Amino acid sequence: MKITVIGTGYVGLVSGTCLAEVGNEVLCLDVDPAKIKIIEDGGIPIFEPGLQEMVQRNVAAGRLHFTTDIEKATQFGTIQFIAVGTPPDEDGSADMKYVTAAARNIGKYMTDYKVIVDKSTVPVGTADAVHAAVSEELKTRGVDVPFSVVSNPEFLKEGAAINDFMKPDRIVVGCADEQAALNMRALYAPFQRNHDRLILMDIRSAELTKYAANAMLATRISFMNELANLAERLGADIESVRKGIGSDPRIGYDFLYSGAGYGGSCFPKDVKALIKTAADKAGIDLKVLNAVEAANDAQKHVLGSKVKAHFGADLKGKHFALWGLAFKANTDDMREATSCEVIKDLLAAGATVTAYDPEAMNEAKRHFPDESRLSYAKNQTAALEKADALIVVTEWKEFRSPDFDSIKNKLKSPVIFDGRNLFEPTEMKRLGISYFGIGR
Ligand SMILES: NC(=O)c1ccc[n+]([C@@H]2O[C@H](COP(=O)([O-])OP(=O)(O)OC[C@H]3O[C@@H](n4cnc5c(N)ncnc54)[C@H](O)[C@@H]3O)[C@@H](O)[C@H]2O)c1
Repeated sequence: MKITVIGTGYVGLVSGTCLAEVGNEVLCLDVDPAKIKIIEDGGIPIFEPGLQEMVQRNVAAGRLHFTTDIEKATQFGTIQFIAVGTPPDEDGSADMKYVTAAARNIGKYMTDYKVIVDKSTVPVGTADAVHAAVSEELKTRGVDVPFSVVSNPEFLKEGAAINDFMKPDRIVVGCADEQAALNMRALYAPFQRNHDRLILMDIRSAELTKYAANAMLATRISFMNELANLAERLGADIESVRKGIGSDPRIGYDFLYSGAGYGGSCFPKDVKALIKTAADKAGIDLKVLNAVEAANDAQKHVLGSKVKAHFGADLKGKHFALWGLAFKANTDDMREATSCEVIKDLLAAGATVTAYDPEAMNEAKRHFPDESRLSYAKNQTAALEKADALIVVTEWKEFRSPDFDSIKNKLKSPVIFDGRNLFEPTEMKRLGISYFGIGR
């Protein structure tokens, strides 16, 4: 099949590459020439395990192409995936300007039948808006070209994106006509040879499914974080509680870890957008999700509060080593990352910080361009030099079993604040390290 992917970011680049991997001809479009240049030069603009090799392999095989030429991209694929960003607007709703621009571009240049697929996470009703935008452009041109609009939300996780796309748990397709449904079934057939994973539904349900999934996952995290804060006060250990409840198959172990708050490009913005959609379009106050968001906003400051409780509110003259900047392991993505709040809290209290992250340090420099009291170390051990304490924010594998003797030797005082509960409190005690986890 001939496929155009509009937006070559985390979702677009992974989707386009995986679709090429199974034999399709794919053209990825982006309006950012810098991104396309990086790919044309043999690199990729993001860090995602295994992606660079897969891109190179499919480019070499002649199945995967990149462009900034909108007209060419529109002409190319019968299937047009819209995978552009939907960042939060000032009021928390999803900003639809990139999706609308992509839809209008299709309307401006299409000359034959297209299946336009919303892969971006978009509010309920967006397929109708995309339909209207394309129709308007066709009307302006005075032409009548047939097209279908489909909702096909993406469920991949950064850090495991290729596996998630190649072996999906489910493929949600919201469709209003048979021709588009047939195209989507054919497109996804190679990804579900073992058994059918395609769940066909109406368009609005598909749009809502994506928000419901992220809202549910965010709810589990905020729930566990609140219980962790409670466990601390009551003298219980949230890790024991987690095992105790996770063993119930109705609850399950997944997504039950407490920590220093969720971040990333999806949960914070999608929870906000769903709250806003409910309020604006249905007059409904989503009380649970409002609480999920408030709990998470507070949780991002728990590490900063613990540091101040230990060292005092005034941190002038104190220096901290910070391990982990990305919002989670195996990505360089720092959108809404907890590390940003921790760093801001520490700097605001007068401290200096040396951070290390295996992949996200360039991103961090973009987030904190002129911060003289924030520096970066070349590795995790170097970050510890002359620090009063170590603060762990991201659960990178290489942080999980560090050399505690070297940590003790390098730090001015053996103190660890662990925002991911990577270490065992009893072991820390045995080693003579003052240890502050979350809910332990
Ligand atoms: N990142 C994730 O893990 C993830 C997972 C599932 C769903 N999503 C959703 O997928 C969508 C994309 O997310 P992302 O993380 O890939 O975003 P991203 O910011 O990494 O990429 C979006 C890309 O679209 C490009 N773009 C913007 N307008 C364009 C246009 N008119 N034509 C062509 N290109 C254009 C931008 O330059 C950018 O490169 C969002 O709605 C997001 O919520 C993301």
